[in-house]
Amino acid sequence: MDNEQKKLDDMLPREIVEQLDKYIIGQEDAKKLIAIAIRNRVRRKRLPEDMKAEVTPKNIIMMGPTGVGKTEIARRIAKLANAPFIKVEATKYTEVGYVGRDVESMVKDLMASSVSLVKAEMFKENEKKVETVVEEKLLDLLIPAIDEEKKAQDVQVQDVRESMRQLLRSGALDDKEVEMAVPQSVRVSGVGVFGAPQDASGVDIGNIFEDLNSMFQNSGREKKRKITVKRAREIIREDQLNKSVDNDKVIDEAKARCEEMGIIFIDEIDKIANKGQTNNQDVSREGVQRDILPIVEGTKVSTKWGVVDTTNILFIAAGAFSVAKPSDLIPELQGRFPLRVELHDLTSDDFYRILTEPDNAIVKQYKALLKTEGVDLSFTDDALRHIAEIAEKANNSADNIGARRLHTVMERLLEDLSFNAADKKGESVEITADYVDKALSGIVEDQDLTRYIL
Ligand SMILES: Nc1ncnc2c1ncn2[C@@H]1O[C@H](COP(=O)(O)OP(=O)(O)OP(=O)(O)O)[C@@H](O)[C@H]1O
Ligand SMILES: [Mg+2]
Repeated sequence: MDNEQKKLDDMLPREIVEQLDKYIIGQEDAKKLIAIAIRNRVRRKRLPEDMKAEVTPKNIIMMGPTGVGKTEIARRIAKLANAPFIKVEATKYTEVGYVGRDVESMVKDLMASSVSLVKAEMFKENEKKVETVVEEKLLDLLIPAIDEEKKAQDVQVQDVRESMRQLLRSGALDDKEVEMAVPQSVRVSGVGVFGAPQDASGVDIGNIFEDLNSMFQNSGREKKRKITVKRAREIIREDQLNKSVDNDKVIDEAKARCEEMGIIFIDEIDKIANKGQTNNQDVSREGVQRDILPIVEGTKVSTKWGVVDTTNILFIAAGAFSVAKPSDLIPELQGRFPLRVELHDLTSDDFYRILTEPDNAIVKQYKALLKTEGVDLSFTDDALRHIAEIAEKANNSADNIGARRLHTVMERLLEDLSFNAADKKGESVEITADYVDKALSGIVEDQDLTRYIL
């Protein structure tokens, strides 16, 4: 796909919206505005330095009820861009000087996410190259154990090696045990590279990285252990992958990516907005807003990978804003979030489309899940319409949880089938409107049941 190759920054707003359409139903205004915000960042970056300083970043506030796509839009935009992305909750932060997380940690987390992103990309690039080395190393481990005496006779050793290679490739040796020295770096870096959470709510990834790094720098010792070939392959592969990348290059690239393309999604921004009263809690909320301000405006934050400039980072704030309004934020902060958009409640028509249309649509997911058990699941169009209506009804009579309602409804609908799937191997199951009716109608009619069961 051409668009997928394209860097987000090269994409026209229209193209960005097209990409988002694959995952998010409706919410056209929000998609459009996000596309504009991304484009504005590009435009601003192209300005001469002195003028750039004058133009404030055009960050966004998304307002809307729960479960209508606020986070999903931001997450998709980041994926699309291969951009470092983190989601934080405004309520997790405390003013500098108080116990809690200080706001600079969001930039550290973003940088951590950028490092994992870049590293994973480079690993991917090197995967093939490393695989040959891994195989040779595994053979080195395997052969002396099996063929100690024949080592001298070269030709035979080569033969053994080749047949061993075939065995290895076939997977026949996967469970065989070998003894090998496990490099400490492997056990540690595995966590660092792939384990860095994208949604770092509450965990300071920066610190974890620090701890891990010092752990493996201090411990050069290698311990010999008996492990399976399968595990040995993983360990050697990871060790080789780590050796295959130049750390300085990773950090340079990660820093550039973080500064130029990073997106920080601040959820629950409405919860730190003041609403007139000034008790102690409000004062500290305002403090948090004041702390966030310079980061949004552009400041330098030192991380363990060096100083990160936040000037071009895009901030997307979101909240329900059912009580507080954007105008309850301190004026300076309001000014940094000039783009505002409201997301709408989803209707049963939206639900119908959400069930089927997106690339990762819920119905597709359930079909795939049951396929793994040999069950062919299908839905009639009527059934899907009916499910969508039930979801809307349930949202009206119990809490409105937006599209998340579809999950609870589907789980309930397919509960029996999920439970008995193994007995239905090889069968096709069609969900009809009638089936939906039988399974769910009673629940939807009874308000109390809806509340507790759906
Ligand atoms: N418009 C939509 N199109 C497709 N899927 C959607 C849409 N809105 C929500 N969803 C799905 O519903 C789930 C919840 O959505 P999301 O996380 O975006 O909610 P939110 O608006 O951020 O709510 P909250 O205020 O609770 O954080 C996700 O799985 C998402 O894929
Ligand atoms: Mg959300």
